[in-house]
Formats: sequence, C-alpha cells, structure tokens
Amino acid sequence: MSTVRVLTGITTSGTPHLGNYVGAIRPAIAASRAAGVQSYYFLADYHALIKVDEPARIQRSTLEIAASWIACGLDPERVTFYRQSDVPEIPELTWFLTCVCGKGLLNRAHAYKASVDKNNAAGVDPDADVTAGLFMYPVLMAADILMFNAHRVPVGRDQIQHIEMARDIAASFNHLYGEHFVLPEAQIEESVATLPGLDGRKMSKSYDNTIPLFAPREQLRKLITGIKTDSRAPGEPKDTEGSALFQIYQAFATPEETAKLRQAYADGIAWAEAKTNLFERIDQEIAPKREAYETLISHPERLEEMLKAGAARARAIATPFTTQLRHAVGLRDLRAQAGAQAGKKDRTALPSFKQYRESDGKFYFKFVDAQGRLLLQSKAYDSPKEAGQVIKQLQEQTGPLPPLLQEIPLQQLSNVDEVYSALQLLLAAKD
Ligand code: TRP
Repeated sequence: MSTVRVLTGITTSGTPHLGNYVGAIRPAIAASRAAGVQSYYFLADYHALIKVDEPARIQRSTLEIAASWIACGLDPERVTFYRQSDVPEIPELTWFLTCVCGKGLLNRAHAYKASVDKNNAAGVDPDADVTAGLFMYPVLMAADILMFNAHRVPVGRDQIQHIEMARDIAASFNHLYGEHFVLPEAQIEESVATLPGLDGRKMSKSYDNTIPLFAPREQLRKLITGIKTDSRAPGEPKDTEGSALFQIYQAFATPEETAKLRQAYADGIAWAEAKTNLFERIDQEIAPKREAYETLISHPERLEEMLKAGAARARAIATPFTTQLRHAVGLRDLRAQAGAQAGKKDRTALPSFKQYRESDGKFYFKFVDAQGRLLLQSKAYDSPKEAGQVIKQLQEQTGPLPPLLQEIPLQQLSNVDEVYSALQLLLAAKD
C-alpha cells in the first residue's frame, strides 16, 4: 500500500567504470522503474571531500557521474536525483545526529579502524593522517539516509556496517526525541556479480584495473585487448572458470550468448577472437548511451538544471522535516511556546480540524490555523470514519510529517512548514 523509499548515494571521487555500471548503475535504474517505490539517488559530494582534495577532480567527477546516470536511462522525473551539497539541511542533520552518536560507535567503523591498524603496523601515531572527516563519515551517511526516511538502501557489502550504524543512530535519536526516523535496511543485490577488472581482481579504482564506462570506442577496444588471459594457444580448450574475459562477457550477454561462448571456450577459441567478441558485445550496449553521455558532458548547464530541480524536490521534504527536527531537539521558535500557553487559556486561538459533509454526499475535512486560514483541504471520503482516521493520524503524527503528508491524498496543501507548526501548537495545547 504505502510506498517504499529507496535511497542511495554515489561518491563523486572518480570516473564511472564498467564495474560501477554492472554493479550499481544498471540495477539501480532498473529498480527505479518498479511500481510502488520512491527512489532517491544522489551525488555524495560532501563524502568526496573526505578522500579528494583536488577541487577540479570533484567537479569533473560530479559532472561525469551525473551525465552517466542520465545517459544510462535514469529518469529525473521519476526519481529524485540531486546533489548532496545542494541540500544544506543534510549537514545540519549531521550535527543533530553527531550529538546522539556514541564516539565508541565511530571508533569501531571499519574504514577508520583500517587506517588506525595501518598506522599501528607502521609504528606511527594511530591517528596519523586520519581526518575527523573520515572519522565522522558514518554520521554524514546516516544523515543522508535518515533525512528522507529511506526504508531500503542498496549498497555493496562494504557498506553494510554503515547502514547498521545509521540504524543505531536513528534509534538513539528516536529514543531521546520521539519517533522521527524510520530504521533503514541495507539491500544487497545477491544476483549482481562483481565485475573483474583488467588484471582479474575486482574492478576497482584502488587496483587501477578499471575500464571507464564511456571510454571512446577505440580506447575501449584497446583496454579489452589488455585483459589478462592465460597463455593457451588458439585451438587449445580454455577454462571459463576464473576467466575475467568470460565473466565480463556474462555480465553483458544473454544466457544463450553466454552458452555459446562457453562452447567456443571448449572448442579452443583464440583469445584475440574472444576479446573482439567481448568488445563488440559491450559496445553494442554502451554505444547509444555513450552518445547521450557525450552530449550531456558538453552541456553541463543541462545537468546543472536537472540537479537543481532535483534539489528543489529533495528540499521540499528536507526543509520542513528539519523544521520538525529542530523543534524536536529544542531549537524552537520562541513564539510556539507562547502560543501553546495562550492556547490553554483560549481554545479559540488554536488551529483546528473541521469535518463536514458536502452536497455530493461525501465527507471531507479541512485544517485551518488559528486565524481560520486554510492549511489543508482533504479529498472526498466515503465515510466520516475514514476522514476521522486520517485526522487522527495527523494529530498523533506518528512518523515524520512530510512522508505522512505525501501518503495522504489531499486536494490542497499550503506550506508544509505552516502545517507542521500548527500541528505542534495543537499538540502543545493538549498536554
Ligand atoms: N559511502 C557510500 C559509498 O562509498 C556512498 C554513500 C554516501 C551512500 N551516502 C550514502 C550510500 C547514503 C548509500 C546511502 O559507496
């Protein structure tokens, strides 16, 4: 019934390669087309600052990653596609979460521990070259996820711990300040293979064995020619097991095509021919996307506009939610308190829900502020009970307000911020 929110981030610290395409971009775009999901994909450029201190590289990577996702078919109308640094509420939330996150929890993060272990092994200070950014990274990531109350977070195995930490941090916040956050879950795609790189190890920037996703055709051919094989001569049968060439082919081909190649291996296909096959098969899938990519790269203003539009959509949620969270932790409009107290004495000065029946025989409600201004106008309900339940949900405000408002079909909604403040006034007047 209610939609599942799926969110993932891509750190803008490099050039997308075939491993990213097979392991993340392609499955994520396919998943974003499913019914009943609301997807949030973002360029994690604040995260990039942890690893990269070359401004031009961050900018270039942001451009390339944005262009890659769009060229591969991501529909920015369908998903909320934005750049992290366009949503200043995220660093604000990071601070709120920092203040409920045990330092010990961060001490145990794999990425941080790996650096400390390395320093210890080298006999230098345990925190040598470790920035506070690296240490705090899991909190920033928790803020990315919790800001949109994502239910599911598709990530690689290396990120599972970070999702668990986001859950821990969310639970601490909820415990202290009320149920504001959904506890997210990692979503690991079992069926998606990790792609081997040129040297047979996992394709990864850190091994310098990648094939850029949108390498020009001739460069792609050259790179594929360089994939490591054994020294078996043409005519000698070849092993598919452990063959990087075969595994990469499999990630692009249909099961029938893969079966054919398997046979060709048994029949002793020459490595040169197998490489040509692989090159043509990849290029068949990538060439149309490459063309779209090149157009986008030469029109950064189009991407900038797309990202800005995505950020506006993200902020339509983040801004009112942050208002709610500020209130929750006590960063409050001083008038809210005064208003609530006035409300205790004078109930007429409070916002209120009004239920009524129209001449169409249907039931409606509206929510008006203390001055009688319309804040919410419901759609038609068949029974007063249904309308009443929605009112109850709003008044009790279980869960964060913005997603709740998204789930309630409304005819009219004024500023979410105002709705939130009015609900707070009502709530405060109750107790
Ligand atoms: N840390 C993730 C990675 O390196 C990227 C990322 C940042 C992310 N924020 C996120 C992933 C939030 C999922 C959700 O792959």
